[in-house]
Amino acid sequence: MEQTFIMIKPDGVQRGLVGEIICRFEKKGFSLKGLKLISVERAFAEKHYEDLSSKPFFSGLVDYIISGPVVAMVWEGKNVVSTGRNIIGATNPAASAPGTIRGDYAVEIGRNIIHGSDAVESARKEIALWFPDGTVNWQSSLHPWIYE
Ligand code: PPS
Repeated sequence: MEQTFIMIKPDGVQRGLVGEIICRFEKKGFSLKGLKLISVERAFAEKHYEDLSSKPFFSGLVDYIISGPVVAMVWEGKNVVSTGRNIIGATNPAASAPGTIRGDYAVEIGRNIIHGSDAVESARKEIALWFPDGTVNWQSSLHPWIYE
């Protein structure tokens, strides 16, 4: 089954949106396989965003991610990478649809509350980086009511 890496960024944690965000993924039918509240060092944040190191916003993005604790999660389910991105909404909250997390709770791209892996391969890399000891292997009893 497909997995994705989801991170609630420091603004999402500070604004008390952790429960709301978890609720949206749970209610959709996805399964939580990893969860931790963590403050990361600059070098770790730079590693997570290494593909963006040449972007003009890179250092500001890293400053933002290390400005407070984040909630790192692994969610599992059919098409969870792309569906997770739909639940999150467009990167720039000015363009995120109402009903999405960013569309409902964010205003600026530099304070867009949440990160979700953009592809199955990047999810695999991000999960390995954030959960080096692995995730929890369990299956919800609701599985037969979510999947045919
Ligand atoms: S890009 O430029 O197309 O590679 O960027 P994009 O794929 O849209 O976004 C990648 C991550 O960079 C963040 N981002 C920004 N942060 C701060 N300021 C600006 N201007 C900015 N532009 C993009 C964006 O939120 C993405 O972060 P994650 O954590 O992956 O959502």
